[in-house]
Amino acid sequence: SRQIKLAVIPGDGIGPEVIAEAVKVLDAVTAREEVTFEKTEFSLGAARFLETGDVLTDADLAAIASHDAILLGAVGGVPGDPRLADANIERGLLLGLRFSLDHYVNLRPSVIFPGVPGPLAAPGAVDFVVVREGTEGPYVGNGGSIRQGTSHEVANEVSVNTAFGVERVVRHAFAVAQGRPARRLTLVHKTNVLVFAGSLWQRIVLAVATEYPDVTVDYLHVDAATIFMVTQPSRFDVIVTDNLFGDILTDLAAAISGGIGLAASGNINPDGRFPSMFEPVHGSAPDIAGKQLADPTAAILSVALLLDHLGLTEAGARVKAAVTADIADRADRGVDSAPRSTADVGDAIVTRLTETIVTRPTEK
Ligand code: NAD
Ligand code: IPM
Ligand code: MN
Repeated sequence: SRQIKLAVIPGDGIGPEVIAEAVKVLDAVTAREEVTFEKTEFSLGAARFLETGDVLTDADLAAIASHDAILLGAVGGVPGDPRLADANIERGLLLGLRFSLDHYVNLRPSVIFPGVPGPLAAPGAVDFVVVREGTEGPYVGNGGSIRQGTSHEVANEVSVNTAFGVERVVRHAFAVAQGRPARRLTLVHKTNVLVFAGSLWQRIVLAVATEYPDVTVDYLHVDAATIFMVTQPSRFDVIVTDNLFGDILTDLAAAISGGIGLAASGNINPDGRFPSMFEPVHGSAPDIAGKQLADPTAAILSVALLLDHLGLTEAGARVKAAVTADIADRADRGVDSAPRSTADVGDAIVTRLTETIVTRPTEK
């Protein structure tokens, strides 16, 4: 049977709590498949840094890179913790992994599940995916400051956009759009102000568009895109955008489609040279950590993305179906029902999976 080596990085805060449930679901959904996940746990993050002083060593990176895929919870300590001031766990660890493993596609789908309570009165059918560039933009760390600490301080943070980097993520976004029923691609940028990067993105989108006559292409400035995401999210199908705009838009996308506790993501290396990494969009949520209050659904849906990525699409679909049923059930029980713990939600989704196995007549 197929063996898949999975690196598991639970991380900090609610990371270990939601990953415990995600792993439960992964084990349950693959129990009857011709596949085994050989898991290696890596203890990385703020807690590990405080203990050992290491963020991501070369040995960590090499060990993680030898796996077929990565499942990550969340990393990062309490914002403002002085002991972490010089560490920058997020840059060193999370961006360290994304950059070293060339995760140039950050795939962040948004759907409003039936029955999910959201903040929009009339959202319409929400089903879009943000293809966020993952290795460039202002995230590259190309910056610096002079005259630090004086009133003449100048701090620069340069957004790096290369033709190579933009073209490969744009090509991926077109391929994603081509495979979806609506076949619409929206470039989101800020070409009216960021003229050099904006022009590069726009030219590459227009050039690649000629190879995809079936895909309808349009453009929105990022500020206007935030309006439409709230007033008419159904207008979006595939959004392609840079690293920073994509970060901000996908928290908004999560908020309009049921909350950050449901938002999953994949950091993909489409070339397959490096393992791709799947993680909830949310962070370590220190405000609710250790209390079993976190919703593990985003981590569980990240497992569905992981399964899809590995070609285990039926298992991925079963996870999504179990989550959909659980979310519909939340709506049925109403707001007055007793709150469920993180583990309760994971267990409920596992039970749904098991029911699905039993009732499937065509199961081999
Ligand atoms: P956050 O996403 O951790 O929390 C924002 C808000 O959403 C909080 O009120 C939190 O309680 C809530 N929330 C988040 N996940 C939830 C869940 N599963 N269920 C219910 N509520 C949930 O963002 P933040 O507070 O800005 O960041 C906290 C730390 O996490 C920081 O150190 C930050 O840098 C880091 N971070 C890490 C990642 C990652 O590892 N991928 C992503 C974002 C932030
Ligand atoms: C995310 C996070 C990260 C990002 C941070 C923690 C580096 O916000 O995954 O969305 O900005 O990409
Ligand atoms: Mn973010």
